[in-house]
Amino acid sequence: MADQAFVTLATTDKYARGAMVLGKSLRNHNTTRKLVVLICSQVSQPCRSVLMKIFDEVRVVDVLDSGDTAHLAMMKRPDLGVTFTKLHCWNLTNYSKCVFMDADTLVLSNIDDLFDREELSAAPDPGWPDCFNTGVFVFRPSVQTFKQLLHYCTEHGSFDGGDQGVLNGYFSDWATADISKHLPFIYNLSSIAVYTYLPAFKHYGSNAKVVHFLGQTKPWSYTFDPRTKQLSGQEATAHHTFLLDWWTLYSSAVVPMLQEQYVDQPFDSGCVEFQYSDIMTFESGKEEVAASYAQALEPQLSSEERKQKWEQGQADYMGTDSFDNIKRKLDSFLK
Ligand code: UDP
Ligand code: GLC
Ligand code: MN
Repeated sequence: MADQAFVTLATTDKYARGAMVLGKSLRNHNTTRKLVVLICSQVSQPCRSVLMKIFDEVRVVDVLDSGDTAHLAMMKRPDLGVTFTKLHCWNLTNYSKCVFMDADTLVLSNIDDLFDREELSAAPDPGWPDCFNTGVFVFRPSVQTFKQLLHYCTEHGSFDGGDQGVLNGYFSDWATADISKHLPFIYNLSSIAVYTYLPAFKHYGSNAKVVHFLGQTKPWSYTFDPRTKQLSGQEATAHHTFLLDWWTLYSSAVVPMLQEQYVDQPFDSGCVEFQYSDIMTFESGKEEVAASYAQALEPQLSSEERKQKWEQGQADYMGTDSFDNIKRKLDSFLK
């Protein structure tokens, strides 16, 4: 299995957060495959450090940009020219087979069975089902294919200005040639399908294995309050529970890793910030909420790890080892 990998792409710090959550979700569902992320030089050092902890390989690649403003404008996504960078995944020739996943996807159950499929397997695009969506696809790295894809770009361009236009042009028999290359929609459930076909979503949605937050508004476009588990910043959406899944994983597993890298440097986690002064204003009883909030933002240490830190003089005075917590623990023994 060492020669098979899940691959994603993040050209910026924002998309890197998506990649971190995706990587964590793959690990949580016990994938046996390697995890690779392609990044560009723009991605900051703290983000690279976190990516290196989650992924087996972090590879820096050049930005490839279609620069095709006319087609991108038609899709109302001028930002997607850089998705040509995705084509670099064909250069990962140290792997024999890979599954590419957009950084705005979230894995809900183990999907290692995708490696039984052949290039190019993908799910239908919800907007035009005779095209495949390039948010999740199975491929075989090959420098020759990479060169042919670039050649295709120079000869024909991309009908949408992004990678999906090129890949559908190049693998043009996908719709008709081999049904085994059609992935079930539950491997790339676009969040917009919730609106376009609600009864189908209600009927089949619980089987979803991968949710894809396709479209301009991404999970990281919202603000999240871990205390109340509320999202704000955008209107309420029907795929709310998937967004909450994303935020729960991000706030509990990724934010602590980012905090560790940024140390005292301020960074915007996207979570409503917890102020130490809040503790002071909490009336008694509400401190439980404060403690659970603080805990959600803390790296989760086992009691053995915590004991070791305590013995090394690294007590968490503001959190688990705060005076109040110690007092509570003693009180519980004395009761
Ligand atoms: N991407 C990126 N930087 C960008 C835009 C896109 O790294 O500025 C990558 C990222 O992996 C992303 C994928 O390209 O998930 C496709 O873009 P996006 O998901 O925004 O397109 P959509 O699925 O909404 O059409
Ligand atoms: C699509 C895909 C995305 C791709 C973009 C540009 O909507 O979801 O993965 O990058 O189009 O072609
Ligand atoms: Mn996407």
